[in-house]
Amino acid sequence: MNIKEALEIATQTLKENNIENYKLKIKLLLSSILNKPKEYIMIHEEGKLDETLEKEFFSKVDRLKNNEPIQYIINSQEFMGLNFFVDKNVLIPQPDTEILVQEVIEISKKFDMKKINILDLCTGSGAIIISLAKEIDNCSFYASDISKEALNIAKKNAKNNNVNISFLESNLFENFSNEEKFDIITSNPPYIKRDCIETLSEEVKMEPIIALDGGIDGLNFYRKIIKESKNYLKDEGFLCLEIGYDQRKEVQNLFEENGYINVYSKKDLGQNDRIVVGKYKKE
Ligand SMILES: C[S@@+](CC[C@H](N)C(=O)[O-])C[C@H]1O[C@@H](n2cnc3c(N)ncnc32)[C@H](O)[C@@H]1O
Repeated sequence: MNIKEALEIATQTLKENNIENYKLKIKLLLSSILNKPKEYIMIHEEGKLDETLEKEFFSKVDRLKNNEPIQYIINSQEFMGLNFFVDKNVLIPQPDTEILVQEVIEISKKFDMKKINILDLCTGSGAIIISLAKEIDNCSFYASDISKEALNIAKKNAKNNNVNISFLESNLFENFSNEEKFDIITSNPPYIKRDCIETLSEEVKMEPIIALDGGIDGLNFYRKIIKESKNYLKDEGFLCLEIGYDQRKEVQNLFEENGYINVYSKKDLGQNDRIVVGKYKKE
């Protein structure tokens, strides 16, 4: 079978099954299988797909047909201009999370070249902390997650992107020593309201439930992280959290109730509230 015929069959299959953005997904899939850029496919449509590649292609088209995200099938997602390995054990890093990374980079500049340390709680694929490590000099980087499988992926991503991060398996701060204090703690925790999980798209529902479920009101992790971070932040350290578009008021209140100062929020490119930041001041 040649490339053109394979593309036609795949297009038909995914179109019939109402798969969103099927044209782009098919091109990404084929270019990943052939290990060539997308443009290659357009100018080599008459080229042959050998039997092994053809089999692999159609078995992956079947996965697309079953609503599996393309990123899990090609094991790749770009974030902050870097490439991250992803599979079903980690949340696919989202473009909106880049706002959080950019804000932490800005905050790190306030430390005036002093050596600082940054912790990313609930690190998943490691996208946040690895991007920070690429951008910030003179800093030690730490990351944790409750999932061993996610941590293995984060370690692989740190290695592929050539950065040095200390990883810890932990249920939030449970396995941290109380001696450990950070200048900046950042996190994109699970924050979807439990009842809303059923209403998510079939693709999103393929992501790990522990990466999504924020409890009945979606705020479980914020309550714990905002309270417990006070034991792990240095005086005048910053807590920077990603939030759901409708959680700004509640999360800002939690920061203020817990005595953080200079609390502010920022929107993402779609003009949705996306992060809340506060400064910890020792009483
Ligand atoms: C929304 S995902 C964020 C992943 C990544 N930081 C990102 O932004 O793409 C949340 C992550 O929290 C982790 N997680 C869930 N419960 C946790 C807990 N109790 N302690 C630590 N990590 C937890 C999940 O394994 C998942 O990797």
